[in-house]
Amino acid sequence: MTAPLFSLEGRTAVVTGGGRGIGRSIALGFAGAGADLILLGRPGSHRDMTDEAKSYGHSVTVVDLDLSEPAHAKAVGAQLAGDVDVDILVNNAGTIDRGDSTAVTPDAWNHVLQVNLSSLFFLTQQLAGPMITRRHGKIINIASLLSFQGGLRVASYAATKHAVAGLTRALANEWASHGIQVNAIAPGYIATDNTRPLREDPDRVRAITERIPAGRWGEADDVVGAAIFLASRASDYVNGHVLVVDGGWTAR
Ligand SMILES: NC(=O)c1ccc[n+]([C@@H]2O[C@H](COP(=O)([O-])OP(=O)(O)OC[C@H]3O[C@@H](n4cnc5c(N)ncnc54)[C@H](O)[C@@H]3O)[C@@H](O)[C@H]2O)c1
Repeated sequence: MTAPLFSLEGRTAVVTGGGRGIGRSIALGFAGAGADLILLGRPGSHRDMTDEAKSYGHSVTVVDLDLSEPAHAKAVGAQLAGDVDVDILVNNAGTIDRGDSTAVTPDAWNHVLQVNLSSLFFLTQQLAGPMITRRHGKIINIASLLSFQGGLRVASYAATKHAVAGLTRALANEWASHGIQVNAIAPGYIATDNTRPLREDPDRVRAITERIPAGRWGEADDVVGAAIFLASRASDYVNGHVLVVDGGWTAR
């Protein structure tokens, strides 16, 4: 029987930062769709979700990885690529630095670039090699509305998320003919730790909510369907796309 269009049965998915927020929802959604999981993140960061992930009956492996070290991301990627046939990579982990651009230090700037961009690239580079050999792979980068807009007082974040969208298209062009689809999801305003400072500011919450056509912020689970689509054979002819999941924010 042909596998259902959106099934991930028999697939192995790597998800970065799957311990909380959007990454956690995507990882659990993938397990529910049939995938084995390899969760990459800072030590201890997946402790609270592995039992739930395992309850779907597929394997769950946790690997320590701090994305602030691109060389470490490359080494972990190389090791994984040698050990496991990875079908799906979700580059979800990300960090944000909020503040006036006049006050940003080189260390703070570099940290955001390393986590959100450089480590993403080198992990992807390593896992893509065997995908190219096997002529099969799905790579999903988590971009942002700030892949299209500048945001307020988040210069390094906006710079990296614009770069993630560009990198998604560049890698899609390079690897499409090898049977690999590279795409991105641009979540709108989602209630996670990333947006906690905004949600604690009543004026910002009101201004943002009023501008969202759907009339509400997103939940992390709102991103899961797009991720399963881009991870499954349903998206085999979708290349280099940045899929917004934003309650209509960018349509307005
Ligand atoms: N929440 C939103 O509104 C929103 C909107 C657009 C894009 N995003 C993006 O979604 C992704 C997930 O963010 P979230 O909203 O779930 O927020 P979150 O802060 O809850 O999750 C971020 C994840 O990244 C991991 N991470 C951060 N620094 C890391 C490091 N140095 N090494 C390894 N892992 C690290 C964290 O442990 C966590 O699992 C991020 O890329 C974020 O930029 C979020």
